[in-house]
Order: sequence, then structure tokens, then C-alpha cells
Amino acid sequence: MANVRALAAQTLFQVVDKGQSLTAQLPYASQKLPVKDRALLQQMCYGVLRYLPSLENYCQQLLDQPLRGKRRVFQFLLYVGIYQLQHMRVPAHAAVAETVNALKSLGAPGMKGLVNAVLRNFQRQQVTLEQSANEIMVCQYNHPSWFIKKLQAAYPETWTDILEANQQQAPMWLRVNQRQADTVTYAKQLDQAGIDYTLDESHPDGILLDHPVDVTKLPDFPTGASSVQDAAAQMAARLLSPQDGDLILDACAAPGGKTCHILELADAQVTALDADEKRLERVTDNLNRLSLEALCVHGLADEPDNWWQGEQFDRILLDVPCSATGVIRRHPDIKWLRRATDIDELAALQAKILDNIWPLLKPGGTLVYATCSVLPEENHQQISAFLSRTDDAKHITLHAQDKVEQPGLQLLPGITDGFYYAKLQKL
Ligand SMILES: C[S@@+](CC[C@H](N)C(=O)[O-])C[C@H]1O[C@@H](n2cnc3c(N)ncnc32)[C@H](O)[C@@H]1O
Repeated sequence: MANVRALAAQTLFQVVDKGQSLTAQLPYASQKLPVKDRALLQQMCYGVLRYLPSLENYCQQLLDQPLRGKRRVFQFLLYVGIYQLQHMRVPAHAAVAETVNALKSLGAPGMKGLVNAVLRNFQRQQVTLEQSANEIMVCQYNHPSWFIKKLQAAYPETWTDILEANQQQAPMWLRVNQRQADTVTYAKQLDQAGIDYTLDESHPDGILLDHPVDVTKLPDFPTGASSVQDAAAQMAARLLSPQDGDLILDACAAPGGKTCHILELADAQVTALDADEKRLERVTDNLNRLSLEALCVHGLADEPDNWWQGEQFDRILLDVPCSATGVIRRHPDIKWLRRATDIDELAALQAKILDNIWPLLKPGGTLVYATCSVLPEENHQQISAFLSRTDDAKHITLHAQDKVEQPGLQLLPGITDGFYYAKLQKL
């Protein structure tokens, strides 16, 4: 049987050094483990990615030179070991012994002495090491410096709150399928299942669980009574306000969370478009579980000539590809996979999607623009620029401070994920 710490080190190597996404790597590693060890694997991978700069810094102090080439995976094993000592409730002697033990399944028993010495030295020098790392901003906040600088510029008062929120475990929200039961009725089913939760009036379809649970424990989940979706993401369909009989385009639809929510709220004809054929299969899976129907189309939102049939839509949801900087706590690998230069490229693609999709909207129709980003370039600056170059676009106010000069609603990570919404109408 595979060793959980060895698998964590290999997974982290794939993510940090090879640029693979954690979402893709974790299921692959998990299936090699007994079910009881899978949560531990996830905890160690998430934890190391949350605290990567500090862990790198400690190892820099504790090793004569960093482990390179084929020995790189042992560097990640050291991070796994130190993360356990610093942040997990594993007894220290077990954390050290089990980390050293992982070397057997990595085929490197000869590394035992070094790994053991580094972990013991970390224990001895922990306070001093933490103090000196904390003097370096990137280690203090455990985020890349380009991102810290962007947040400081955009949120001079609250940037540290955002960084701190990104280091927390994300809450679990359910979306109740209103076709099967209203939110209060489903909440009673949760009571019977012994699952504790909070209701929140501002999210009419949402239930916030006190503790994350496995979906197999949720009442009637396989038959579509509820879905897992953050409350901020649930706002998309409500803002779009679909009506029976509407022709709707969900232009960046996969894996289909918002497509399904739209269809739970109205008998609409929805086209679910996505550039990624594989991800589009997940839209179909989600529609099937919820017994809903949509037309799934593989194509690019910025090139509608290749797939559009010519009939304009009543409503369009543009949940555009973005930096995902509002969901770092759910995907801590984003901090290390994204580069500062990605933001300009993403903003250019978002502008192209907006410009090329706008002609597909009927006069009088509504477009909701959404990102899970906290960066103004992708959000209010993007929509301001679009409004100023598009004569027939009218800005619809979502709240008292939603002004043309700084349009839209910016949510920051906290009780919900970080998200941005703007609502536009075609004149
Ligand atoms: C934020 S995700 C969408 C999440 C989805 N709306 C949901 O709620 O489940 C963005 C999606 O845009 C897709 N995408 C990226 N570039 C695209 C393009 N040029 N045209 C259409 N879809 C694109 C990606 O494959 C990805 O599935």
C-alpha cells in the first residue's frame, strides 16, 4: 500500500515544480490510498501550499544546499514533515518517524539521516526560524509578492484581511434544488440527518454547513436535491433572474454549477458553451444528476461565428476565465501557478469575450458578468472600459455604491468566496 507522506511529496512536486493543478493531481494520488488516509493527504498538500514560502525559508536555513534534480521530491517531503510539526496535531515524534519512514516507499532509505536531522533541527530552532522568516513579507503572508503588491494597491485598508482569509479552510455551502424542495424543507432533512447548518436570508437557495461533510451523507444528493456551491457563486443565477421561456446563453459554463442553478429556477432554454470539451462532460453529468436539460456546445465565447445559430438571447451569463484569486483558500496552488503576467492576458481575453458576445444579446436583454477574482483589472476596470466603448450598454446598479465610475459588486473572501458581478442591459 502507498505511503501517504510519500504521495503528498510526489503530488506537491508535480504541482509546484511541474505546474500541474492540485485539482487534477489529488484524485490521482488519493486513489492509491485507503479511504481513511485520503483526508490526511489532502490536509498535507493544502497545508504545504498554504505555507510554501515559510517552509522554503526554513529549509534554506537548515540545509547546506537545496535538494535538486532527482532529489527534489525529498525537499517536498521535508516541507510535509515541517508542516506537520508546525501546524498539525500529530505528536512530534510520530511526525518525524513517519516522514522518515516515507523514504522507504520513495526508494531512498539512504536519505534517512538527512531528513531526520533537518526535522530535529527544525524542532530545536523553531522559534528563531519563525521569527526570522516573519521579517520577510512573502513568508509572513505566504503569498507571492506580485499578488501582495496588487492587493495593497487595490485595497489599501483591507489587503491583510484578504491574505489572512486566503489561508483559512473554506466553508461548505449547499444549494438547494428549488424544483425538489424549498430551502427550509431541505434544512429539516439536514436536521434529521444530524448535520448542523446556518440559514442566511441573503442567499435564498443556500445553506451554510457548520462543518464540511462528505456528499454521500447529504439527504437525496444522488437524486439532485442539493448541490455543493459557494453562496457567492449562487448569486449568478439569481442576478440573471431567468424567466420561463427565456433563451439563455451560459457562455463559459463548465462544470455547470451555474447552468444547473439557472434551470432550477426557470423553465428556460439554456445553451451551455465551453472551450474545454472534457470539462463540458461534467456539465452533462451535473445536468443528469439534477434531471435538467440544456444544449451543451463546445466552442469559444470569443469566436461565436463558429457555433452561434443566429438567434439572439434574452439573457447571457459570462462567468469568464479569470485569475481565480477570490478562491485561493479552495485552491492554494493558484498562488504558485499564476504569474503576474497572466493577469494582463486574462483581462485581454475577458475584453474580447465581452465585445464578441454582446451582439448575441437581444435589445432589452440582460448580461451578467462574473469572475471569482479580487483584482480590479478583471472586474470593475474591465466593466468600466466596456461601458465606455459600448454605446448600447447600460449599467444596472446592484447596490448603493455600484456607480458607473466603479461599477459592480466586489465580494471578498470571508463567509463567501471572493467574487465580482456586474449587470448590464442592452438598449
Ligand atoms: C470560471 S469557469 C466557469 C465555471 C462555471 N460557470 C460554473 O459555474 O460551473 C470558466 C470556464 O471558462 C472556460 N473557458 C475558457 N476560455 C473560454 C473561451 N474562450 N470561451 C468559452 N469558454 C472558455 C473554461 O474552460 C472554464 O470552464
